[in-house]
Amino acid sequence: MFEHLHALPADPILNLMVQYRQDNNPLKVDLGVGVYKDEQGHTAIMQAVTAAETHLLATETTKTYIGPAGAEGFNYHISRLLLGNEHSALKDKRITVAQTPGGCGALRMAAEFLAKCAPDTTVWVSDPTWANHIPLLKGARLNVTEYPYYDGATKAIRFDAMCSTLESANAGDVVLLHGCCHNPCGADLSTDQWDIIAELLVRKGLIPFVDIAYQGLGDGLDEDAYGVRLLADKAPEMLIASSCSKNFGLYRERTGSVMIIAPNQQQAAVTASNLFSIIRSHYSMPPAHGAAIVETILSNTELTKSWGDELAVMRNRILQLRHQLANDIAATGCTQDFSFIPQQKGMFSFLGINKDQVGRLRDEYSIYMVDSSRINIAGLSSHNLNYVAQSLSNVLKG
Ligand code: LMR
Repeated sequence: MFEHLHALPADPILNLMVQYRQDNNPLKVDLGVGVYKDEQGHTAIMQAVTAAETHLLATETTKTYIGPAGAEGFNYHISRLLLGNEHSALKDKRITVAQTPGGCGALRMAAEFLAKCAPDTTVWVSDPTWANHIPLLKGARLNVTEYPYYDGATKAIRFDAMCSTLESANAGDVVLLHGCCHNPCGADLSTDQWDIIAELLVRKGLIPFVDIAYQGLGDGLDEDAYGVRLLADKAPEMLIASSCSKNFGLYRERTGSVMIIAPNQQQAAVTASNLFSIIRSHYSMPPAHGAAIVETILSNTELTKSWGDELAVMRNRILQLRHQLANDIAATGCTQDFSFIPQQKGMFSFLGINKDQVGRLRDEYSIYMVDSSRINIAGLSSHNLNYVAQSLSNVLKG
């Protein structure tokens, strides 16, 4: 029966990691997968994470099962980190939280939940969106369609087109939004635009589904949660997928959470039973370690401060790199304007070059990025900025 299968192409983002590792050029630069790196190009373990792991090693007494919802303490703290301590959805007990294997686990469980509610649900995703959104949603047999989002020519959000397209959506359709640090384009909605979108979604009976994988890496932990908090307050039904991969640096520990907001506490209990049953039939229960680290940090004032301070250093470094990249490209005499890069947020921006130029950067200069020209800003450093700027400028000259 296996002969019915056809070989599939490798994942475009993850394959870049393999290609980069195999490249022997000492000047090689990895701007591919979205992983934070320090000035030395190293993805270090955050200090609060090491402290929490040390504490867990000394105090953990069991490895017994934790159940489909994961750890209660993690779910308590992660929902407050995301929504704030005083959020109405928490006070009204309208929210179900489950710890998941990373943000992908959260997205997929949310998608399976939607499919269980209504199998022919349509999910609107931004054009462009993170490449893995599509298979995660379609894997749950949902219909996926796009709303306009980023204009490659003006480097800005196509906000009017986004709104008019969403006006044409049907009540009960789901709208997937990036909570902050849009992946791949780095162009985020302003608070005014979030207000307009929230009003539109609620008025039309559209269900918000927010993927927030970079909280704290844009403008700040609270600032980055503006949209998700607003929608959780206004919308009667909502889904949220969050990830601890980037802001806690827990990539391989696969730590995330799915949150589902119901119109009232009674409906929330029904929601919870369905979500936990879906989880049980997929992976039964999430891995514990990453969430135990996050819970240890967020339940300790000192560790929370250490973590928040280190996250701020990462955020500010990314912003500084954005400015330096735009300046260094301009300093090469390049006539193309890259001043949009410091205006965008988080790890990613499109350079706005074509696939051939991306290929030349890879083949001639060993600079790796996704074919769409999405770069991971955090892959830059003072060691490679000039090289990247000059190489890009050379390629643009033709
Ligand atoms: C990325 O977009 O590079 C990250 O979110 C990693 C991934 O899994 O694709």
